[in-house]
Amino acid sequence: MSNNLLKGKKGIIFGALDSNSIAWKVAEKCYEQGAEFILTNAPVAMRMGEINKLAEKTNAEVVPADATSMEDLGKLFDKAIEKFGKIDFVLHSIGMSVNVRKGMHYTDINYDWLQKGWDVSAVSFHKVMKTAWEKDAMNEWGSILALSYIAAQRVFPDYNDMADNKSYLESIARSFGYHFGEAKKVRVNTISQSPTPTTAGQGVKGFGGFINFAEDLSPLGNATADECADYCVMMFSDFTKKVTMQNLYHDGGFSNTGVSQKVIEKYL
Ligand SMILES: NC(=O)c1ccc[n+]([C@@H]2O[C@H](COP(=O)([O-])OP(=O)(O)OC[C@H]3O[C@@H](n4cnc5c(N)ncnc54)[C@H](O)[C@@H]3O)[C@@H](O)[C@H]2O)c1
Repeated sequence: MSNNLLKGKKGIIFGALDSNSIAWKVAEKCYEQGAEFILTNAPVAMRMGEINKLAEKTNAEVVPADATSMEDLGKLFDKAIEKFGKIDFVLHSIGMSVNVRKGMHYTDINYDWLQKGWDVSAVSFHKVMKTAWEKDAMNEWGSILALSYIAAQRVFPDYNDMADNKSYLESIARSFGYHFGEAKKVRVNTISQSPTPTTAGQGVKGFGGFINFAEDLSPLGNATADECADYCVMMFSDFTKKVTMQNLYHDGGFSNTGVSQKVIEKYL
């Protein structure tokens, strides 16, 4: 159902890999709500070709960019400016840890891999915003969002160095959010999403265990990728103009629940 919440708005959506991706759902919902956008992902992810189906469905153009490359980001924003003039929203839906992929224990991580994962998962958010800032690409009252996870605040042992990357990501949202707000009236936030069965999510060891645990602990149950996309639409809409520099939990109440009856009953 469309209320045209994003009618006339233009944006860039990073991170749609396949139809499970949170960014994929965000693209579908933004399109439904009247937005126009460019879809982007790392050139290596493009080779899988899935993104073209989404582009067709949402009438979007696909522009490859490695989000760690200032050169790629420069070209991507130039393309967006050429196509749309200034833009109104950006979704950063990117995460990757080589240490997670290789099953390294947190106490024994490889620091070259740590740096790679940190660059992809956290610093890329700064790089995206720096590019937008330098090219003056954002309209006033624009909205920039990244996706995070509660392992930034609490320990989830197998989330490994991604926990540290998410803390850094959330800090960048606050720090850049200040400057973007003051200078350009642009808001910057992170959404801290429930565990979600996607390629990145399922790469975390023990994912099945903690998605089920989160489901039992959260009074409203886990938030789905579709529901996350609805929240992103709201954050891009004019109904959230003064929300900025926040880490917004979208987790069915998980973050504020100590224990639930369902969990207690498993231990009686
Ligand atoms: N799935 C979960 O449980 C969960 C929970 C909370 C937050 N998140 C976050 O949501 C975001 C999206 O992940 P997802 O769960 O949809 O998984 P996903 O695997 O579908 O998406 C991750 C994306 O990052 C992209 N990417 C990796 N390296 C890149 C690079 N160098 N440049 C550009 N793009 C690159 C991948 O190609 C992929 O499209 C991530 O930030 C993730 O940490 C996921």
